[in-house]
Amino acid sequence: MEVKTSLLDNMIGVGDMVLLEPLSEDSFIDNLRKRFDHNEIYTYIGSVVISINPYRSLPIFTPDKVEEYRNRNFYELSPHIYALADEAYSSLRDQDKDQCILITGESGAGKTEASKLVMSYVAAVCGKGQEVNKVKEQLLQSNPVLEAFGNAKTVRNDNSSRFGKYMDIEFDFKGDPLGGVISNYLLEKSRVVKQPRGERNFHIFYQLLSGASDDTIKKLKLERDVSKYNYLSLDSATVNGLDDAANFRTLRNAMQIVGFMEDEMQSVLELVAAVLKLGNIEFKPESRCNGIDESRIKDKNDLKEMCELLGVEQSVLERAFSFRTVEAKMEKVSTTLNVAQAYYARDALAKNLYSRLFSWLVTRINESIKAQAKTRHKVMGVLDIYGFEIFEDNSFEQFIINYCNEKLQQIFIELTLREEQEEYVREGIEWTNIEYFNNAIICDLIENNQNGILAMLDEECLRPGTVTDETFLDKLNTICAEHQHFESRLSKNSKFLTDHSLPHNCFRIQHYAGKVLYRVEGFVDKNNDLLYRDLSQAMYKANHSLIKQLFPEGNPAKVNLKRPPTAGFQFKHSVGTLMRNLQTKNPNYIRCIKPNDKKASHIFTDSLVGHQVRYLGLMENVRVRRAGYAFRQPYEPCLERYKMLCKRTWPHWRGPAREGVEVLMTDLQVNPEEFSYGRSKIFIRNPRTLFSLEERRKQCLEDLATLIQKIYRGWKCRTRFLLLKQSQITVAAWYRRYAQQKKYKRIKSATTVVQSYTRGWQARKLLRELKHQKRCKEAATTIAAYWHGTQVRREYRKFFRANAGKKIYDFIIQRIIQKYLLGLRSSTPSMSPIDGSWPSRPHLFLDQTHTELRRIFHLWRCKKYRSQFTEERRAVYEEKLEASELFKDKKSLYASSVSQPFKGDYLEITKNPKYQKLNNVMEEKVLLADVVSKINRANGKGTARIFLLTKKNVVLADQKTGQVKASVPLPDVSSVSVSTQSDGFFALKLKEGTASAVKGDFLLSSEHLIEIITKLHRVGTTAAEMERLNIDISDEFLVQFKQDKVCVKFIQGAPKNGNSVSCKRKNNRLLEVSVPTTAA
Ligand SMILES: Nc1ncnc2c1ncn2[C@@H]1O[C@H](COP(=O)(O)OP(=O)(O)OP(=O)(O)O)[C@@H](O)[C@H]1O
Ligand SMILES: [Mg+2]
Repeated sequence: MEVKTSLLDNMIGVGDMVLLEPLSEDSFIDNLRKRFDHNEIYTYIGSVVISINPYRSLPIFTPDKVEEYRNRNFYELSPHIYALADEAYSSLRDQDKDQCILITGESGAGKTEASKLVMSYVAAVCGKGQEVNKVKEQLLQSNPVLEAFGNAKTVRNDNSSRFGKYMDIEFDFKGDPLGGVISNYLLEKSRVVKQPRGERNFHIFYQLLSGASDDTIKKLKLERDVSKYNYLSLDSATVNGLDDAANFRTLRNAMQIVGFMEDEMQSVLELVAAVLKLGNIEFKPESRCNGIDESRIKDKNDLKEMCELLGVEQSVLERAFSFRTVEAKMEKVSTTLNVAQAYYARDALAKNLYSRLFSWLVTRINESIKAQAKTRHKVMGVLDIYGFEIFEDNSFEQFIINYCNEKLQQIFIELTLREEQEEYVREGIEWTNIEYFNNAIICDLIENNQNGILAMLDEECLRPGTVTDETFLDKLNTICAEHQHFESRLSKNSKFLTDHSLPHNCFRIQHYAGKVLYRVEGFVDKNNDLLYRDLSQAMYKANHSLIKQLFPEGNPAKVNLKRPPTAGFQFKHSVGTLMRNLQTKNPNYIRCIKPNDKKASHIFTDSLVGHQVRYLGLMENVRVRRAGYAFRQPYEPCLERYKMLCKRTWPHWRGPAREGVEVLMTDLQVNPEEFSYGRSKIFIRNPRTLFSLEERRKQCLEDLATLIQKIYRGWKCRTRFLLLKQSQITVAAWYRRYAQQKKYKRIKSATTVVQSYTRGWQARKLLRELKHQKRCKEAATTIAAYWHGTQVRREYRKFFRANAGKKIYDFIIQRIIQKYLLGLRSSTPSMSPIDGSWPSRPHLFLDQTHTELRRIFHLWRCKKYRSQFTEERRAVYEEKLEASELFKDKKSLYASSVSQPFKGDYLEITKNPKYQKLNNVMEEKVLLADVVSKINRANGKGTARIFLLTKKNVVLADQKTGQVKASVPLPDVSSVSVSTQSDGFFALKLKEGTASAVKGDFLLSSEHLIEIITKLHRVGTTAAEMERLNIDISDEFLVQFKQDKVCVKFIQGAPKNGNSVSCKRKNNRLLEVSVPTTAA
């Protein structure tokens, strides 16, 4: 919801002077001071804005402020220049009314700053877009250019506008800026050649000298030192807070934005430099033969440089400074100039050069900012004219300036009153006439075509004969003597004859803003604004495009003998045009006030402000505004603001706003004479009525605030209470649930315990009962059985003899045994001694018999089996038996050998021709021939050897050649060592001291180890003389290799290399045989 505010909110003093109560000059100034002390520099008088120069930057011109004031009602917020700018812009855009903003006030009061604030506000709120932004930039940047050339430091203002400026900003129907037109009014050109003490020439001269680059300075033939130039005052060449060099850069930038070409900028600077040079040209008198003094240029260097800058021929200009040609009736008469005249000519040229340059700049800027579209424009004019000036020494310029201000004051009075009247008519309110001071009479004194001061000045200037400032004053003294605002010592009005504050060469005018004493000296000259034709022609001849343009009258082809219009006439004319222009527009006033003479912030000099308040007619302004009604407000905002004061309008009024206001006023019992109903506004006659309304509103707002507070607090407490209550219920519910759950669980477990005890007790009781029943039943059965048995025995006893039972028993046993034996005969197993099957035992008591019969049967079966053996087969079995005795359960290899028949001669040595030679060597029968590996002690590797066993010898022969390598008589063999594992290694150990033992023991390996050892053992057993061969079965044994004993150690290794047994020499004394575990 948008919050409606009003200027009446948080007011410091009163924001609108119309509401001042009581109204007096003192209270007026007090109010201004009070507001000024609180940084409120703006105050309204109705729609007029009073602005007091703060002389410091205030944080009230920010973009946020622009937004705040944008599209707001004028009286909605505290007074601000933005409110006025917004009001003007909105009515221009929305109501299609051309606007003008009239900014008045004395020098240094802040007019130029105000005009810039208005322009920047409008630029900020109007449309955006590339083209529009360019236009805005150009319009805004025209200010620095004009300020550099048209402003100067004066004793009153460090940046005083020395020209009048009126700028029309043109907008399209949407309110977007299209362009603008600037009009300039009378530049104070006398400043170019002379400045009062404590003042400066125009800023541009100082900016150029301190800000231009060395290159530019050189090109312009200048020196930076200000003291080198006669036209520049030295005592205040630098101004505090003014950075000329930086301002020069700003100027160049602004000129670029506005659209000046580089060569144009250069030409402008050349002209400025030329003016400086011109000031340095000095003259000396030279007596001629006719006794008349003639002027000569002292030092031609400056003239030369200036001519070079302007492209003027030096001799032409030199001549123009020495002679004056007067043309009359087709005749040309040349007269020489004396030194004074030469200086006059020089200064006239300088002033003209500069003022024409200034006018050219304005024209050039206008060309750039001209609106392109031909459609109808809406216009907002901003007038920033030099302020009313009262110097110690006032001359023609001040007269003109003050005249202009006088005209503005008049238009202000006229328009304010007219506006006021129009509003009453518009609203249908009766109008009562108001007394006020109308300065039309002063304007008339100055501008009247017959006897006005300006008309008389013109008359004097045009009059043939000797014309001096004194003759002009005489004329004034005669003609204006009776005028109540004109004062002169020598006038016919005897009142002033003794007034010593009035010097003889002065006249005084009682302006609306105060009395001003004008010294007549220079009036005629300045009004004539004479530039000798020779000079203008010399300038026209210049080889410089800009100069040529500036002096068109120098064109010899267009010689005009008519005198150019006087400065006063021109000014009166342009002011007239301006006034007519302003009258067609809706005026908006900003009345600037200067708070002190020291250009200092925070100082508010009552007398100075009082003076301005008086001459600006601000009190009258308030009175005029209050004469009818002090305050007016449209019905809607009025109702909105005060509706809370009446029950019927609060909080909403449904009908039309006017009726609402009527109801409100009736209810509040406001005296009907105190207000009137207009068509769209209510008019309140006395500020007191408004303040009483405000007071009631304030009270009511406080009550409302209390009410709101009360309701809010109640609501807050209630909400909190409800929340707490709700929370409490939730917590309680949860707790109860939890407590109940806990209680239930406790009861449940107690019940279960009781239940289990009860059930246990019941079950035990039942069990006891059942057991009792069972025992009863069993007892009954037993008793019954015994009883029956007794009964039966008693019954059958009579049928059996005493030992009949034994006989029956024996008979049955006999029958069982008979059946058993007969059955056994038919089910005896096969005759194979290895068949382990045997029929099962039929009766337990036959167990021993059954086992014995099985043993007997087996022995018988074996005997039968053996009886079938041949001699050889028996021998084989004997061998096998012996092998079993030797190795069974002692060496793992044994198991695999059981199924292998002992072949003996594996090499078939007798039949194989390969072993013929070997066979021949062998004298005895070979019991065993096989290939064995002889293990080499050095590396553990084996060498294939033929192993032969006879009844007497063990022979080792080369496998390939069959050559006998060793033949060991069996008695030399002391023992054989083998491992417990599944390898085929064996060591033949020889008896020490025998011939065979010389070479050492043999470590051999054979696949038929079991057979070899068995046979060796058997041969030893059969040979009567041979001792029994020792067979040593151990995993570690010593073998005598020649000199050394080597330990052969058997370990179980992981199966690798295809399960083969590997022998490795670990060191000199150890051979390690790794037997894979799976080889077993
Ligand atoms: N609103 C403002 N905020 C801050 N400083 C201001 C403001 N208005 C004026 N000033 C200060 O006061 C000085 C004079 O203001 P300005 O040049 O606008 O006066 P003026 O009325 O145009 O005078 P003149 O008639 O001599 O041209 C400015 O240079 C600036 O320092
Ligand atoms: Mg100014």
